[in-house]
This record gives sequence, structure tokens and C-alpha cells, in this order.
Amino acid sequence: MNDNLHQLRCFGCGARITGAEAQPDFRCAVCGDLFEVEYPGWGQRRGNDRPNPGALKWLWRERRSSSEALDHSGVWRFRELLPILDSFGNAVTLREGNTPLYHLTRAAKALGIDQLFAKHQGMNPTGSFKDTGMTAAMSVAKERGFEWVACASTGNTSAAMAAYAARAGLRSLVLIPEGKIAWGKLSQAMDYGAVTCQLNTDFDGCLSLLTEIVKEAPIYLLNSVNPYRLEGQKTPAFEIAEAFDWNVPDHLIVPGGNLGNSSALGKGFRELHELGLVARMPRISVIQAAGANPLVRSLTDNHGASMDPVEAHTRATAIRIGNPASWRKAVRVIQDTGGWCLDVSEAEIAIAKAELGTEGLGCEPASAVTLAGLKKLRAQGAISSGETVVLVLTGHTLKDADYTIDFHRGTLLKEEETVGVGAEIAGLQRNAMVVEATSAAVLATMKGSAG
Ligand code: F0G
Repeated sequence: MNDNLHQLRCFGCGARITGAEAQPDFRCAVCGDLFEVEYPGWGQRRGNDRPNPGALKWLWRERRSSSEALDHSGVWRFRELLPILDSFGNAVTLREGNTPLYHLTRAAKALGIDQLFAKHQGMNPTGSFKDTGMTAAMSVAKERGFEWVACASTGNTSAAMAAYAARAGLRSLVLIPEGKIAWGKLSQAMDYGAVTCQLNTDFDGCLSLLTEIVKEAPIYLLNSVNPYRLEGQKTPAFEIAEAFDWNVPDHLIVPGGNLGNSSALGKGFRELHELGLVARMPRISVIQAAGANPLVRSLTDNHGASMDPVEAHTRATAIRIGNPASWRKAVRVIQDTGGWCLDVSEAEIAIAKAELGTEGLGCEPASAVTLAGLKKLRAQGAISSGETVVLVLTGHTLKDADYTIDFHRGTLLKEEETVGVGAEIAGLQRNAMVVEATSAAVLATMKGSAG
């Protein structure tokens, strides 16, 4: 651990500790809040001693054509901004990051926005944004000599953790809510050799049990309460800024579950700004499912001063979280950047996902909340037509193929959930048809299909 270059600062009381002093549950011994990684050297360096923005930008771009494995990673390519390891030789990488930024032309036209993009984090090695965080925190686990790592998960964290643990030669323990995660994700944890326990509780119950377990045995906790996860997950902010030639977009929209990702992306943009690599921060908005919206409630009820957990229900199982760990960090990101936090219904999520599908972009239901949220913000007049907007798509569509099939077969939503949007849904549904094996029958089917 490179304790010379970084330290951990408590988000609640400001206490500072070295990385080695962190408790197994990554909670502050003084106030119980979470930590953030900070790099004291950055503040101390002034004038000529500060990293040269131009040189860094050149170096990071240059690394994309390097033959070094570490340079191929969209996380470690930016390693000057995450000096968390003693030796970068300990980095465990699956060549994560460097994900595509797609122009959403159809949705842009429908919404009357010129510049609308999707940063597709589902195009990572295990199919979700978790890989960027996992490469960072798994490397720390390896460097610190742990044999076991563990996480509670709604599926994607466990898939990523199991894969990176396997690459690092470490054992991994997964706690997931029984029957509440998509099969694609469960299959990954099994395939990568994790000890996978399906527990008769929800995600929040899994995480609180794991918090107890790591205090009893030398197991490294890899949920996003681990501040090193967020160091990896901040790097898509660098990629986005780079893709816009270091002019940040006006608005970034992120799904909210345990709220690690929105916190990490906010940290990434903040650091770029503080180091003089970009001139300003984008507005960052967080969208939750209406049945799992504790942050929306907190901001509406008391401006984010406190948060009451909710019992979470949504078919977007990745964000079925009622007691998000990083809620305070997310509140700061939203408030500092002038972003919004709102929730969207099950039908709105399903429609947005199908609309992204019509652009050739599959994603998980949890990712589609971003487009559903954008539609609401646009309808409220919160976003003007000239703004550049980036949606962060967090997971690959094949993670939860059942959801997509159920939508197109018309078995996903209950009738009462589709009131007022039945026709819109019907216009997006494309069921697979059983057709006679003759050219006439196939051609007739094509003719009869909607455009
Ligand atoms: N989108 C997807 C596809 C996710 O898997 C998650 C979280 C989120 C969005 C929300 O991100 O928690 O940082 O606010 N999945 C976690 C998991 C909790 O266990 O895989 P967040």
C-alpha cells in the first residue's frame, strides 16, 4: 500500500488515517462514517511542482497505443491520479475501462437535445461498471496479502469480484439475496469459482451480515464501502472528459443503488477540476427506481440531512437497495454540482430500456433509469436543448435477458403499471414469432411487421 502518497479521510468527521489503519468494515472508528482516499501531495504542490495537465493528457492518450498490459487498462492508464499501490506490478487487470461513448441520435431527436451520449460501462470485461472499481480494490487486497475477499451483491459486484479474485489467485466469498438477482450474474460468480451463498434476506441484509463476518475473520471487504473501489470507479470521468477533448459535458446522469458509482464519478470530475485538467464540473444527477428511492426521499424531505432506509422493490434488481451505504457522498455530489435526484416507475424503466434497444444499445434495466430520468428532467424544463448530456449505462443487456424477453412477450409489467402507456409499450414490443418454414410465410411476416 502506498501510504506515502495517499491517506484515508473520514467523510463524516474528517479524521485521517493511513490505509493500513482502516477497520475491516471500512467504517470510521470515531463516527462510523465512510472514508475517501485523498492525496495530500496534490494540495501541497504549487506552481511548477504540480502535475502538468498538458503532459498528463498526452501521456494518458499515448498509453492507449502502448504494448504494456497496464497501459491497456482504462483505469491504470490514469495511474498518476490513483497512486494507491506500492508497486503497480501488483495491479490485477482484465483490461477494463476504455469503454465506448455512443451518440444517441434517436433519443436526442425525440427529446430535442442536440448532444446526447451514452457511456457504456456494460462493455467492461465482466459486463458492468464494477470492473473499474474491482481492479483497483482487488490490487490493494493482493498487495496487502489477503487470501480471501468478499462482497454482498445484487449480482454485478459479485461477478466482477469473482473474476478479479480468480485472476489474482485469491479465494472469494459472495453473499447474495436468494432469488433476487439475475441468473446471468449468478452464473458468472459460479464460473469464476466464488463460494456463493444465497441468503434468505435482501441486499441490505447481506451487507450488514458481511460487515459482521469481516470483523471475525481476515477477509477483505470489496463492497463500495471500500474506498479503493471508488478510486477505480472515478476513472470513467477521466475517459469522458478526454472524449470531449477535456471540455466536460453539461450534465451526467447516473443510476443510484448503493450510491458508490455516483460518488466515485463526482470525485473523478472534482479531482480533474482541482488539478486544473478541466475548467468546470458537469451537473451530476442520480436516478433511482420508484420502489427503491431512499435518496430521493431524503433530498425531498430534508435536503439530504438524514436518510431513512426503505424496503426496496424493483425489477431492476441491480438497484434493489433500500439502505445505500454511500448516500452522504452522493448527496454532496448532487448538491455540489447542482444536479437532481428523482425516481422513475417500473413502466418508465422498461420503456426507456426498449428505446435504447431501438438504437442498437442493450443495457440492464438499472442502466435504463438514466434515459427515463432524462425524459422527466427534459419534460420539467430542467435541461435545455443546447446542453450536452451523458447517460452512464452501467450493465450489459445479457446480464438480465429474462427481463428483456418478458418485456417483449408482454409478461413483465402488471396491467395497473401500464396505465396511460399501454400503446407506447405495445409500439416497442417485438415478440419472436413461430413461422412456417417457407419463404412465403417468412416474407409475409416481414411485410406484416411494423417499421
Ligand atoms: N447499475 C448496475 C447495473 C448495478 O449493478 C448497480 C449496483 C448500480 C447501477 C448502482 O450502482 O450501487 O454504485 O449506486 N450494483 C451493486 C451490485 C450494488 O452488488 O452489483 P451503485
